[in-house]
Amino acid sequence: MDKIEVRGGAPLSGQVRIAGAKNAALPLMAASLLSEEALVLANVPHLADIATLAHLLAALGVEVVLDGTRGGTAPGGRVMALTARTIGATLAPYDVVRKMRASILVLGPLVARAGEAVVSLPGGCAIGTRPVDLHLKGLRRLGAELELRDGYVHARAPRGLRGATIRFPFVSVGATENLMMAASLARGTTVLDNAAREPEVVDLANCLTKMGAQIMGIGTEQLVIEGVARLGGATHEVLPDRIEISTYAAAAAASGGEIELLGARLDLIGAVVAAFDGCGVAIEESERGVRVRRRDGGLRAIDLTTQPYPGFPTDMQAQMMAVLATATGASTITEAIFENRFMHVPELCRMGAQISLHGSAAVIQGVPRLRGAPVMATDLRASVSLVVAGLGAEGETTVNRVYHLDRGYEHLVDKLRACGADISRVAD
Ligand code: UD1
Repeated sequence: MDKIEVRGGAPLSGQVRIAGAKNAALPLMAASLLSEEALVLANVPHLADIATLAHLLAALGVEVVLDGTRGGTAPGGRVMALTARTIGATLAPYDVVRKMRASILVLGPLVARAGEAVVSLPGGCAIGTRPVDLHLKGLRRLGAELELRDGYVHARAPRGLRGATIRFPFVSVGATENLMMAASLARGTTVLDNAAREPEVVDLANCLTKMGAQIMGIGTEQLVIEGVARLGGATHEVLPDRIEISTYAAAAAASGGEIELLGARLDLIGAVVAAFDGCGVAIEESERGVRVRRRDGGLRAIDLTTQPYPGFPTDMQAQMMAVLATATGASTITEAIFENRFMHVPELCRMGAQISLHGSAAVIQGVPRLRGAPVMATDLRASVSLVVAGLGAEGETTVNRVYHLDRGYEHLVDKLRACGADISRVAD
């Protein structure tokens, strides 16, 4: 298994091209199941999770054609054309769903288009139990008959879905996406209350609208969807990855450099910009994206709580903790979205960080400098937080289990190297 070696201390300087958002591309790809015409997606990132979903969709009968510039770093990213002329199969097996929870996003579209689906339940994962009960309850409200058997959800709607009012008890990105897709082909009106407002949900709603869906309230907490009998094809460009943007900002903050993030958009990362501003890092619009610079005077402690959008994203919690590990003073980070999302804490502590856990809160007592160490993590964002920490640390950090990084960061090592980082990927 490959590992990444980072020798810290060099301030980053240069430019990084930001890829399309993984968490937007995945639901957009699933939306191809809703139409017999081609859905053409541009700016699709080059990531393991994208390949996993492409394989699953192909097994369901979707023709997947990957075109565009190979290598992934060219402007515009890759172009993926997905055509589901007919649905050839309706099974999403355990082996795929286990690898990637987002596979559950095929459930709503399959039931809506084909009238049936058999999708494995994802089960537990490294950042908590992460159930899919809201997806299932919502589909039941839309008239699907569901049965849970042998670890699978068997869903049927032989006479099609019908609109309903669904109020989510808390915000769920995936449930909002799944039900918005299903409701687009249901008979009548669906109201989704307390819907997620993440930019990736908005991107999906905009693409569905291009396909002929009738969705009102896009970007608000109440979505009203008038079902239509069929959806057509569309061409859509995936929005930039706000977590990738924010992660490179964290890298510059930890290393003390200045970088420009090409294609990045400030409007996607308001809460992240505010948090960085508070700890002494400026993120400003530049001609071709945004520019990140650690201000003179070093990093300062801040307190923050993860929240659904537009709050501070849980997917940036670990990277921010790596930055705050060397800030002056004590910071508190409260994780309000996922239980047990602190796997990076013991690893950061092995690098000399002083972090104590109190339930869902972490108290980070800043130290002047971290020291490199062999580390590993069991999820994507925790893994990248160790790379961020390593960039600012003294000596060498080896990050094991790199396959997590391949799920969500396109050409991470090349992009950081282009900014002067002393980092390499080595085969074990
Ligand atoms: C998505 C993102 C993920 C991000 C998360 C929160 C994708 C592919 N992944 O995940 O990177 O960290 O949003 O911003 O877009 N929950 C339930 N029952 C459900 C659904 C969710 O209890 O049926 C809980 C989850 O366990 C979690 C919270 O709700 O505690 C939010 O989860 P959700 O927004 O659904 O996350 P995902 O869509 O899985």
